[in-house]
Amino acid sequence: MKEDKLKEELFNEIKRRGLLEQEDSEVKETESELYKLNNKTIKILTERIKDEYTAHYFYRAATNWCQDKNYKKASEFFKNEADSELEHAQKIQEYMTDFNVIPEIPQSPIEHKFDGLIEIIKGAYKMELGLMKSYNENSKDLFNDDMTTFDFLGKFRKIQKEAVIEYSDLINASELVDINDKFQVLYFEQTYF
Ligand SMILES: [Fe+2]
Repeated sequence: MKEDKLKEELFNEIKRRGLLEQEDSEVKETESELYKLNNKTIKILTERIKDEYTAHYFYRAATNWCQDKNYKKASEFFKNEADSELEHAQKIQEYMTDFNVIPEIPQSPIEHKFDGLIEIIKGAYKMELGLMKSYNENSKDLFNDDMTTFDFLGKFRKIQKEAVIEYSDLINASELVDINDKFQVLYFEQTYF
């Protein structure tokens, strides 16, 4: 009994001096970890970083091809496309570091070879459409468990929608000319880029 009383007094003394609170706050400090994106979100964003870099390299290759062939307007157009894709890849990485994840940059395919301007446009359309579908699928997937990333992907869904429309328009326009006639392809390039 005497020992219990002693313990109680000791406990009260500790409480009175605020020693317990101090200890509590120390515990809280180590427990309060910063919010990190979950693994599912990290996996999705890493795949999209890869796609954005793939698009960057595709448009760089297209720029180089057009420059070599002296399609001046198209080469300027694809140069800007390549720059935007790099920005998209950077934006995703910044979003990840904002939420305390250091992104692992995946290896993207870098070899893209072309035989003609129309082939580039069709390739770009296929690539942008694929990316639009991926962002849409990812958004559906994240809607239930990561609303913040769902919102973040909103601007990428918009970017992809516009890219698909842009290349779709170019493909339609290319059907107005005979793509086997070099002069008509040059006319197409001068008119639509
Ligand atoms: Fe992009």
